[in-house]
Amino acid sequence: MLNFNFYNPTRIIFGKDTVASLSTLVPPTARVLVLVGGASAEKTGTLAEVRSALGERVVHVFAGIEPNPSFETLMRAVEQVRRDKLDFLLAVGGGSVIDGTKFVAAAANYDGDPWEIMQTGGASIGSALPFGTVLTLPATGSEMNNGSVVTLKATHTKLPFRSIHVFPQFSVLDPTKTYSLPEKQVANGLVDAFVHITEQYLTFPVQALAQDRFAEGLLQTLVEIAPRAISEPEDYATRSNLMWTASLALNGLIGAGVPQDWATHMIGHELTALYDIDHARTLAIVLPALLDVQRDKKRAKLLQYAERVWGIKSGSEDQRIDAALEATRNFFENLGIPTRLSAYGLGAAAIDEVVGQLGKHGMTRLGEHGDVDLAVSRTILEAAL
Ligand code: NZQ
Ligand code: ZN
Repeated sequence: MLNFNFYNPTRIIFGKDTVASLSTLVPPTARVLVLVGGASAEKTGTLAEVRSALGERVVHVFAGIEPNPSFETLMRAVEQVRRDKLDFLLAVGGGSVIDGTKFVAAAANYDGDPWEIMQTGGASIGSALPFGTVLTLPATGSEMNNGSVVTLKATHTKLPFRSIHVFPQFSVLDPTKTYSLPEKQVANGLVDAFVHITEQYLTFPVQALAQDRFAEGLLQTLVEIAPRAISEPEDYATRSNLMWTASLALNGLIGAGVPQDWATHMIGHELTALYDIDHARTLAIVLPALLDVQRDKKRAKLLQYAERVWGIKSGSEDQRIDAALEATRNFFENLGIPTRLSAYGLGAAAIDEVVGQLGKHGMTRLGEHGDVDLAVSRTILEAAL
């Protein structure tokens, strides 16, 4: 096992009717900015519930954080925080609203140009406003981690940052809040969580037995619940398993002490920034191709994945790996998520553009070995055509 330093201070309040607990979670004297996305929080009544739980506190609202939150939009929220002297943020929404809130929390306290936060990957953050979240879309794990991804729309630059200062203080996870999700977002969430696990699991073995078994259990849980998560939107047991599995997929636990990949995510971010493809869909395009191209370096873990997650035990090594990749691709496709660039109307010209952007953004040594350079990324994208 590799050395690690595991820290996760986020309190999780899980279950039905838990939004009311904001009344005690948010400090009584807080001046609160509630941040939401488009219309969903208002339409579903969650925003009204949040307001009611906050009672007599000063509450302002910032609406309009878009999917793949933009620096441009978030800076307007930063202005509002500073102008109205607000001191506590509450994200109500999916990963985009939570990621955006993390950026606002750090940028509101930042001396200098807040874009530096992105350029330094978060290393330049010295402090951040306290914040909590009410999660409405299980997918990213942002509700229980210290990562965020923000896009500078003007240059199609989508970059991640992390900082110890941007863990949520608490997150309220009420599975009934997911009942209103469109089918497409549920499918996206299943795939995003799945790929978060593979990014931390499908690398090379380091004798991390518990992390491997946790990862395999979470992957199997997603595969098991997927059909009902789609067909029975109000099945509480299924939605609660989806919600908690997605949080566990990226809260640091399964990634402690193991090598991590993340090349699928970094290549995927370029596809979103250039062509506005949903985050999870970009992962479904890149992952099967990446695993195929990297199969020799990932061989031991791919064989373990084939056997333990998909029950594939017979055939030569390469046949077992082929079968596991096929199962992975089918899992995504059966959720209605195409796994080929061509299905999104993209061809060879897009590969040149994506590789160009990866170069511009310094994404030239990706993967668990740091050996996914621009040439390997190109090969992966070609395999995804
Ligand atoms: O904007 P509104 O009206 O709220 O609608 C949203 C949005 O259109 C809708 N939605 C959310 N909850 C709903 C709902 N509709 C009905 N009922 C509800 N209960 O869903 C749409 C998508 O929301 P979004 O927040 O964009 O989705 P997701 O949670 O998948 O977040 C994606 C973002 O997270 C980043 C991605 O890069 C992307 O920008 N990620 C963040 C990570 C992290 N912080 O650790 C890790 C991930 O890899 C991911 O990269
Ligand atoms: Zn993701």
